[in-house]
Amino acid sequence: MHSLPDLFTLPLTRICLLVLTSAAAAQVDYSQYVNPFIGGLGPFEGLAYGGGDIFVGGAVPFGVVKMGIDTFEENVTFATLNGGWTPKGLVTAISMMHEHGTGGGPKYGVVAQMPLTSIDAPVNILDNTTYWQRRVGDDAATVGYYKTQLENGITVELSGSRHAGIVQYSFPEGEKHVLVDVSHYIPSLDDGASGQIFLGGEIKVDGAQYTGYTTTRGGFGLGAPFTVHFCGEFESEPEQARTFRGRNTDPNPGYHSFSGEPVGQATFSAFDAMGERSGPLNDRVGAVFSWSANASTSVRSRIGISMISFEKACKFKDEEIASWDLNKTVSAAVDEWNKDVFSRIQVPIDESVNRTNLVLLYSSLYMMHLMPSDRTGENPLWESDEPCWDDFYAIWDTFRCTVSLLHLIQPEAYEGQVRSLIDIWRHEGYMPDARSGNCNGITQGGSNADNVLADAYVKGLRGGINWTAGYQAMLKDAEVTPPNTFALNDLKASVKEGRGALDDWKALGYVSTDNTRCISRSVEYSVNDYALSVVAAGEAPQDVQKYRERAAGWQRIWNPSTESVGFKGFLTPKNSNGTWDDQDYNPAKCGVCSWGSISYEGTPWEYSFSIPHDMESLIQLMGGADEFERRLDYIFLPNTSQTDLGANAAGIASIMNIGNEPDFATPYHYNYINKQYKSVNQSRSLSNQYFDDTMRGVPGNSDSGALNSWLIWQMLGLYPIVTQPVYLLESPWFTDINITINGNATLRITSDGRAESLGHSGFYVQSVKINGKDWNRNWFEHEDIMVHGGIIEFSVGEEPVVWETGDLPPSPGHLKFQG
Ligand SMILES: *[C@@H]1O[C@H](CO)[C@@H](O)[C@H](O)[C@H]1NC(C)=O
Ligand SMILES: *[C@@H]1O[C@H](CO)[C@@H](O)[C@H](O)[C@H]1NC(C)=O
Ligand SMILES: *[C@@H]1O[C@H](CO)[C@@H](O)[C@H](O)[C@H]1NC(C)=O
Ligand SMILES: *[C@@H]1O[C@H](CO)[C@@H](O)[C@H](O)[C@H]1NC(C)=O
Ligand SMILES: *[C@@H]1O[C@H](CO)[C@@H](O)[C@H](O)[C@H]1NC(C)=O
Ligand SMILES: *[C@@H]1O[C@H](CO)[C@@H](O)[C@H](O)[C@H]1NC(C)=O
Ligand SMILES: *[C@@H]1O[C@H](CO)[C@@H](O)[C@H](O)[C@H]1NC(C)=O
Ligand SMILES: *[C@@H]1O[C@H](CO)[C@@H](O)[C@H](O)[C@H]1NC(C)=O
Ligand SMILES: *[C@@H]1O[C@H](CO)[C@@H](O)[C@H](O)[C@H]1NC(C)=O
Ligand SMILES: *[C@@H]1O[C@H](CO)[C@@H](O)[C@H](O)[C@H]1NC(C)=O
Ligand SMILES: *[C@@H]1O[C@H](CO)[C@@H](O)[C@H](O)[C@H]1NC(C)=O
Repeated sequence: MHSLPDLFTLPLTRICLLVLTSAAAAQVDYSQYVNPFIGGLGPFEGLAYGGGDIFVGGAVPFGVVKMGIDTFEENVTFATLNGGWTPKGLVTAISMMHEHGTGGGPKYGVVAQMPLTSIDAPVNILDNTTYWQRRVGDDAATVGYYKTQLENGITVELSGSRHAGIVQYSFPEGEKHVLVDVSHYIPSLDDGASGQIFLGGEIKVDGAQYTGYTTTRGGFGLGAPFTVHFCGEFESEPEQARTFRGRNTDPNPGYHSFSGEPVGQATFSAFDAMGERSGPLNDRVGAVFSWSANASTSVRSRIGISMISFEKACKFKDEEIASWDLNKTVSAAVDEWNKDVFSRIQVPIDESVNRTNLVLLYSSLYMMHLMPSDRTGENPLWESDEPCWDDFYAIWDTFRCTVSLLHLIQPEAYEGQVRSLIDIWRHEGYMPDARSGNCNGITQGGSNADNVLADAYVKGLRGGINWTAGYQAMLKDAEVTPPNTFALNDLKASVKEGRGALDDWKALGYVSTDNTRCISRSVEYSVNDYALSVVAAGEAPQDVQKYRERAAGWQRIWNPSTESVGFKGFLTPKNSNGTWDDQDYNPAKCGVCSWGSISYEGTPWEYSFSIPHDMESLIQLMGGADEFERRLDYIFLPNTSQTDLGANAAGIASIMNIGNEPDFATPYHYNYINKQYKSVNQSRSLSNQYFDDTMRGVPGNSDSGALNSWLIWQMLGLYPIVTQPVYLLESPWFTDINITINGNATLRITSDGRAESLGHSGFYVQSVKINGKDWNRNWFEHEDIMVHGGIIEFSVGEEPVVWETGDLPPSPGHLKFQG
């Protein structure tokens, strides 16, 4: 009764529908343009330091599993192990969880395997230095796939699904072993305070399958103990599977270890297929699986992980990776990336288009969708129907323009992230500024989840978000000083969550020199309080005025007499008694510009430009439009930087540092004096100078893809102003762009420039139309086109012109400060 329909007998409408469907199904494979290595290399040949700190391996968008190698870099002074992969590092393991693009102390690198051709001396399975491996030849990576060859002759190929991974080892002739070291994690080589510690674990072996858990704590966020349950399986039953234990010799305060002793030898369990569990002495445990020398050369394994139980981990493994054909997992990942990420921004892909730009666009999209991690259904801490997200690492990086892009192209995931932030407040008391391993920490400046919520709110994101609760969470940040946890970064006040210097802020209206990072925190708290005023406008109108006033706090530390290289008026450290702390003060310097400095990862010069909600006051304080312009022009000049920002500005010698987030909006500030052509030109120059499609292609840590999202906005010819429903118009890199926004609407952006010249000089805007209307302002509002979609048409040419005659971009938090 059930037969295939005959196409020719179908009514015409049906045929059209079929054609449409098949066109959609025959999706373009945008993944071919992704170079997963962009950012893998820093300014020093062969080293990751100062580069993107990227993860390289198998992952799906926002995946829990980011499966890839862990390495050790021999030049320890300049080592960065954060993403696991490094250009030349020695391979210590293949592990399931990684951060992507983060600085600070490494996190994760847990649930590991290591293929070995011998486990006899000099190899000691407790000592990675006896078995770690150089790689030969070049690694290969595409979306969802990674391959490397170890010096011992083993080829490793791997891929990842959402909660599971698959790996295939091709062994040379001879012994075949896979070490499962439950105590493996990525260590910190330079900063003990934010290093991780293995706290204990368990492993049980049953034939070709093993299950257990590993618990670690620490890492950049100084996080609480974090347990990952695992369930691994080999395709063929090993000839021998032995579990082992050994004393832990890593010395760490607050837990047991065999102190001052060399790494010992493991003790194997008496019987095959037993289990081992760390006892109170935090012993290291693991297992070695061995196959006979004449077995097939290929050993395949699939592993699931769960924050809840090994049973769930097994279920993930079986459901997500049903086939032993590794490339099936790769194809599934590629399909997911194409469907859920890449196809949301479509540009012409014919020969007319510069392939470099395609690589930059789709690689950047890839890099910004590796974090945060969607752990919905996997929250071990409390029962909740809310989505669960982790690896906000850090919102300090992503609030500036990453979340605004997620808002447009990933509305569902983004709503989930906002709900998750609020749920964290409900159950743990504060929203995070950074969070990983299910634990808040650490906060670099303000409580910047406030900015994320405000940005979502002001652009109308509602869905399942409880905004009553959202505003309560923000109020907590704004009103309740977090208890001090005495972290070594700052003994004075909490860096775990909330606003550590809130006492100053509430009493004085600025952060005084009694607190560290007084400049950068005054700036960030101002923006945070503006964010409160935005949400209060809908949720608690009586609070609007209060937070608008507090949002002007930065003006209290603006000293009109502070001078620097011919410019007057800068943010200046102020004592709690109201006097300036300005002896020998140079706003172009901040010492090491870190936790204990006056400003964090940026100089007061830079932070003096970071007032998105009140550009009008800022321009006045800087001496008016002309002086503002002169000052802007200055920061782009080479060799103007007087500070070494280390890895955060490696290779950048201008004050303008596009390698770190505080300056993200600054190149676009010319829009605020109606000289948009200069914004276009300066931001193009920065992009051309510091971003490219090679391994050295980002000018600093990718920061969960924050740098990459900055570049995407640049390529789209737009820039969002955080906490405002406002976008600045710049100049697109493509002649035609279709963006799927708000789930199912299309925003089309066109440019009449010739594809060949768009990247060089033919990018100056001559005029703009939005939805067919001539547009005389260099900005527009969310409602104008970002809700239902529409078209923005750029007309461009070689000549820089002042085309905009309309109102300046708004300063909705404008307040002329009295006193
Ligand atoms: C580490 O790398 C840096 C940068 O390339 C170099 O200056 C230094 O000499 C290297 N140190 C060692 C021990 O190789
Ligand atoms: C290697 O193992 C030692 C001893 O357990 C540990 O201290 C170190 O952090 C490990 N190094 C790497 C790169 O995993
Ligand atoms: C291959 O290995 C199996 C199992 O260890 C063993 O029984 C057999 O004798 C081996 N065959 C050869 C040809 O070595
Ligand atoms: C997977 O696909 C890649 C690329 O086509 C190929 O080079 C590789 O050999 C395949 N690997 C496996 C395990 O099938
Ligand atoms: C964008 O969409 C329009 C309308 O559907 C279409 O004509 C155009 O070819 C699309 N452009 C790209 C680059 O996909
Ligand atoms: C392609 O674009 C890159 C940078 O975006 C540029 O360096 C290169 O010259 C362009 N290639 C061509 C053929 O225009
Ligand atoms: C929203 O949050 C508020 C405040 O936390 C709570 O009282 C209320 O019950 C929540 N509403 C819903 C529908 O969950
Ligand atoms: C204000 O405080 C600073 C720093 O503690 C101190 O050096 C200065 O003497 C104080 N000035 C007044 C007028 O109290
Ligand atoms: C910047 O400084 C470097 C190193 O001192 C020097 O080589 C270079 O010529 C300077 N560039 C300019 C434009 O002054
Ligand atoms: C464009 O920017 C470059 C680099 O900052 C600068 O040298 C040039 O003068 C600028 N051109 C215009 C028209 O602003
Ligand atoms: C587009 O999405 C909105 C919001 O989810 C929905 O209300 C609307 O029905 C959708 N329209 C189409 C044509 O699918």
